[in-house]
Order: sequence, then C-alpha cells, then structure tokens
Amino acid sequence: MDRYAVFGNPIGQSKSPFIHTQFAEQCQQQLSYEAILAPVDAFADSWQTFVAQGGCGANVTAPFKQQAYQLADSVSERAKLAGAVNTFYFDESGKLHGDNTDGIGLVNDLQRLGINLNACRILLLGAGGASRGVVGPLLDAGVSQVVLANRTPEKAHSIAASFDSRVLACGFAQIPHQPYPLVINATSSGLSHQRPDIAGEHLQHTELAYDMSYAAQPTAFMSWSKQQGAKQQVDGLGMLVAQAAEAFYIWRGKKPDIAPVLTRLKQQLAI
Ligand code: ATR
Repeated sequence: MDRYAVFGNPIGQSKSPFIHTQFAEQCQQQLSYEAILAPVDAFADSWQTFVAQGGCGANVTAPFKQQAYQLADSVSERAKLAGAVNTFYFDESGKLHGDNTDGIGLVNDLQRLGINLNACRILLLGAGGASRGVVGPLLDAGVSQVVLANRTPEKAHSIAASFDSRVLACGFAQIPHQPYPLVINATSSGLSHQRPDIAGEHLQHTELAYDMSYAAQPTAFMSWSKQQGAKQQVDGLGMLVAQAAEAFYIWRGKKPDIAPVLTRLKQQLAI
C-alpha cells in the first residue's frame, strides 16, 4: 500500500491523517497516511528513514517547512514565493519535488465561501510564514490590492519586497482608511487567545473576516470582527482541508470533495 505522512513537531493534534484517510475512501485510493513526530534537529533523517521504508510523499508542517524547502531537489514557483514547502512528492526519475498548497488552499476556501476575489481589496494581518505563503496565490486569483499589516512593520516590508506595487506593507497604526471587503488574520495571536490590535473601523465595510487559525469556539478575532460590523466570520478549518485536497491531487491525480470532510471535522471539534 502507498505510504504517506505528515511531519511536524508537535504533531499529536494533526488533523491530516483523518482528512487524507477520508479523501482516500472517497476517491477509492489504497493508501496509508500517518503522523510522524520528527525531532526538531533531525527532520532530514526522519524523512530519509520514511523514504527508505517505502514512503511515497508527505506533508510538512511547523517547524519544518523551510527545511523541507532546502531538502527538495526542485521546488514549485509558489513554494519559491512562500519560501516554504508543505508537500513532498517524487517524479518518475525519483527526484524529490517540493510544493506549497497553503495559498491555493486559502483561495479555494474563499471561493467555496462565495467571495469574488477578482478586483477585491484585502487587508492581510501578520507577516510570518502563514502570511508569506498566501500573498502570491491571492494576487494570482486577481485581487487588486493586498494591504499587508504587521505589528512589526519591517517584517511586512520584507515580504512586500518580493511582490509588485499591489502589495502595500505597513504597521497596524498605518493601515490606510478605505473599505476592506475581506480581512484575513494570518497572525498567530489566536494561540494566546488574543487578536491583532487594529482599529475596529477597518472592518466596518467587511463582508468576510477570515481567521486562518481555528478552535472549537470562535476565535478572539472572529468574535471581535463581528462586534465591529463584519458581516460574516469564518475560521481556517476549510483552508486546512482545501490545502490537503491540493496535496492529495498532486499525489493521486484525484480531486476530493472538501465539504463532507469539513462537516465531519467540525463535528469532531464540537465534541
Ligand atoms: P507563522 O508561521 O504561523 O506565521 P510566525 O512566523 O512566528 O508564525 O509569525 C507570527 C505572526 O503573528 C507575526 O506576524 C507576529 O507579529 P510580529 O512579527 O510583530 O511578531 C504575529 N503575532 C503573533 N502574536 C500576535 C499578537 N498578539 N498580535 C499581533 N500580531 C501577532
């Protein structure tokens, strides 16, 4: 049976084995998918062991996405722009390719939610790995402007330098006063049950406030966005399933249906 895995540290809470097992059933694919806890200083060894035991491909999550980028024999354009790899696969000649499906996962989830990205102006909060990975795919989807705001403005400027003038970097206090139909929280503030400290007026005309993190309860950013007048609030569970679906497609050539898997994950989280 073809073997796949997700590598991370920690990895115990990963939803990926559940998601890919559901995809495999849905698409009638014979495969196994496991979670592998790689030591923080031995990701490459852990991956090589897996390959020696017959591993065909993998997902890579924190803190190894940059190391995966270095390890691959070649990387896709979108992985280059992200500076990170979340999906490994081999070609026919045995070369290891690195791709990044996080950004397209977000774009697909936004489209599933009925957001028209064409000519849309986006306020993107945060300038870590999560943010870097989605800017390119959002631009490719036709957005007119990405205002990239970060608590530490220099980090936003360093990401914006890889893109054209459609990406505007600033600190939270310098966010331009204009309507933002879509506001995305790509900060890790939710881990400490906080929200990015921006002025509420930026969400007055917001159709969708999207938090790339998720929890059983609405995140601090989602609850606050609602109070500021954002019409709809969504967490990042859909993005998680959608990025997995893109990886599955790379490996198996089949596009799984996201909706039933997302429903089951939401049920599990609510328990
Ligand atoms: P990731 O790979 O998940 O993006 P990261 O690279 O550590 O993680 O980046 C975390 C991001 O969340 C950064 O943009 C960070 O802001 P700073 O660059 O100013 O540190 C942001 N962040 C974390 N906690 C935050 C908080 N409470 N308020 C606002 N931004 C926060």
